[in-house]
Amino acid sequence: MPTKRRSLSATEARRLKSYPHPYPAGWYRLADSTSLGRGEFRELECLGSQFVLRRGQSTAELEIASAAGSHPVQEIHGQILMYFQDAGAPRGVGAEPPYPAARIAEIDSGQFVHRGNYDAGRVHMHIVEFAENSADYAHFQPVHGRMRIPWTQIPIPGVRINHSASWKLDPEREWVSYFLNTAILEIFGKPIKSGTGSAQVMFYGPASMNYFRFRIPRMGEIEMIQTHLPVRPLEQQVDFRWFADRKMPRLLVSYVVGNWISQWRRDIGIWENKIYREEPALAASDGPVYRMRRWYRQFLPESNVRIPS
Ligand SMILES: [Fe+2]
Repeated sequence: MPTKRRSLSATEARRLKSYPHPYPAGWYRLADSTSLGRGEFRELECLGSQFVLRRGQSTAELEIASAAGSHPVQEIHGQILMYFQDAGAPRGVGAEPPYPAARIAEIDSGQFVHRGNYDAGRVHMHIVEFAENSADYAHFQPVHGRMRIPWTQIPIPGVRINHSASWKLDPEREWVSYFLNTAILEIFGKPIKSGTGSAQVMFYGPASMNYFRFRIPRMGEIEMIQTHLPVRPLEQQVDFRWFADRKMPRLLVSYVVGNWISQWRRDIGIWENKIYREEPALAASDGPVYRMRRWYRQFLPESNVRIPS
């Protein structure tokens, strides 16, 4: 059943007007593989279009209900992905994607095994905000500086996290950038060396597919995939799916992922209320926001038409 569109409130309309195009080109997660059996189909409304996702005998096929043609689909690491670009994009709907969907070698080889999924529901934000967030170094300490009980917002007394961040482009794949964060735990003002962990986030495209690599000294590594699917211009369906070294204790894996999700939730109140400024006045310590935006521009349709809901 197509969902009935509700009209935008004045505040939402003002927010939306401030942002770039809501549906940048890239790979998007549509569903978990297990949710679509052989011969089954599902209607989806997202990215300003209606789709029918249909599985043949062994592969996922996608058809467009609202227009002729189809979009490229791949099924990787238990998820069904679609390459989408807006009809106004120069390459045209249904064209071969300019780059393949990401594969994680350790998942393919069986070194990392699937350890969980989390459907985080809808967040009323523009997709670019997730990339903006990583480049906005100045917010890490005030927003993410306290340790919380994983999966909750309850702060742990006396435990702080000191963040050290950097951001870089992939020299060979222009659609990839990396955000790196080293977090040092501090308990009652004393840095704890054994509490140092690092996270690398690979932005594979326009913040639609984000691959986190958590490295826990002496314990192993976790690969967590965080996806954003714009169901409306200012509404993202957010999903998490993670894999870890087979030998890593499941409780530790859940602790690390839950820790990230607690910190991620801290940003939601900001994302759901902010507007986008084309030319913010920034200090050097604010982070590489302009560099990130120059990188991000490759995913926006050339015309960058702002479309209403
Ligand atoms: Fe944040």
